[in-house]
Amino acid sequence: MTVLVIGGSGFLGTELIRQAATAGHTTAATYATRPGTTSHAAWHPLDLRDPARVEAVMAEIGADIIVNASSGNAD
Ligand SMILES: NC(=O)c1ccc[n+]([C@@H]2O[C@H](COP(=O)([O-])OP(=O)(O)OC[C@H]3O[C@@H](n4cnc5c(N)ncnc54)[C@H](OP(=O)(O)O)[C@@H]3O)[C@@H](O)[C@H]2O)c1
Repeated sequence: MTVLVIGGSGFLGTELIRQAATAGHTTAATYATRPGTTSHAAWHPLDLRDPARVEAVMAEIGADIIVNASSGNAD
């Protein structure tokens, strides 16, 4: 399964990536300003306030599970 962690560079996201990778899932993650340091995920820039970018990232990754661990919102 492919897991996408939105806000993967944050405190919560870092732990979710670790757990997803440990469980053997292909793992992708997003960041708003700078990528996280773990190599367990493929990193993608994403600001949730940009709907076109959200669509593009979703289409590119094709995740089975998406977890929103960001502190941002779509407002
Ligand atoms: N930490 C806790 O103990 C805790 C407890 C309960 C609930 N929560 C909730 O869990 C969520 C994450 O908390 P956290 O402590 O992990 O926060 P954090 O360390 O500040 O991480 C926030 C993440 O959200 C990303 N982000 C910020 N603005 C964004 C935007 N507009 N679009 C997309 N991504 C954006 C950040 O990217 P960059 O780093 O690249 O800017 C980062 O990856 C929050 O909603 C928080 O309220 C946390």
